[in-house]
Amino acid sequence: EMAPEEAAFQARIDEGIKIEPKDEMPDAYRKTLVRQISQHAHSEIVGQLPEGNWLTRAPTLERKLILLAKVQDEAGHGLYLYSAAETLGASRDDMQADLLSGKAKYSSIFNYPTLTWADIGAIGWLVDGAAIINQIPICRCSYGPYARAMVRVCKEESFHQRQGFDILHKLCTGTQEQKDMAQDALNRWWWPSVMMHGPRDADSVNTAQSMQWKIKLFTNDELRQKYIDQTVPQADFLGLTIPDPDLKWNEETGHYDFGEPDWDEFWNVLKGYGPCNQERLQARIDAHEGGAWVREAAAAHAEKQARRREA
Ligand code: 3HC
Repeated sequence: EMAPEEAAFQARIDEGIKIEPKDEMPDAYRKTLVRQISQHAHSEIVGQLPEGNWLTRAPTLERKLILLAKVQDEAGHGLYLYSAAETLGASRDDMQADLLSGKAKYSSIFNYPTLTWADIGAIGWLVDGAAIINQIPICRCSYGPYARAMVRVCKEESFHQRQGFDILHKLCTGTQEQKDMAQDALNRWWWPSVMMHGPRDADSVNTAQSMQWKIKLFTNDELRQKYIDQTVPQADFLGLTIPDPDLKWNEETGHYDFGEPDWDEFWNVLKGYGPCNQERLQARIDAHEGGAWVREAAAAHAEKQARRREA
């Protein structure tokens, strides 16, 4: 049974009214949005690390410039999302502390290593592809600042996906060694990208409530299916084989049937035991500590300015 104010709030959600920062909202709505938005922001920031690893080793100057632009875009996405979380009263310092202490989650996908240049193509094609499928519905979610942040993010992500696909297309129309590199990257990135959409709906603690509050417009399994249906034909076009022996077009459902992801691996990565979890957190801790003097200097400068204005 809903309390009257919660029923009134739910009625506004059901009418498709956007909730804005100054509106009344249940604490639980605020809390789950800070949880999801801050973890989304952390994902953008940590997501720069696997790609940054190849900035100095891109095969051409053009590829280097494109990758540089993409890494910078991710930093901006993180900024929009931390700002959206701040509109709910979350503090930047607290969110940062939660990330660096290992308390906050960020997308599992960024805990895998980028071993060859083909991985940069696989990330753009698969990871940004999965991210777009997940982020487009969020442009229509019930919380105004989050929805508006996503509109800009989605525009930039579609460029990220295209440049990734282009990298793999170049390799797949190259030498046998280049084709093998592209297939090796798909073999290593396919399943982690399928798991990006979260656990099965039956194991998703947040989905029901997030759907009711229109924070989520589709469930994890619905988005996962959309991602697979969209990506299989692209792999066929590239002449690459998706490493799932159970993958098969189902004429009746009009979707691809696919195998069961390794959920033990998924939960292990979430617990911090993925291939790169320690390395990723250490890189963020080093960046935070290394940047302390800039934050102190900026704060001192701002204080001096404020004093001068008061004087
Ligand atoms: N990685 C890490 N944690 C994950 C996860 C994943 N791939 N999938 C689920 N989880 C976590 C959830 O956060 C939740 O833990 P919490 O309650 O402590 O937050 C738990 O596993 C159970 O999952 P639920 O399905 O119940 O959780 P959600 O309802 O929050 O659904 C989600 C998970 C689909 C990732 C949702 O949070 C979401 O849509 N987030 C916004 C989009 C996002 O974060 N995308 C990943 C980053 S892609 C990116 O960085 C863009 C581009 O630069 C690549």
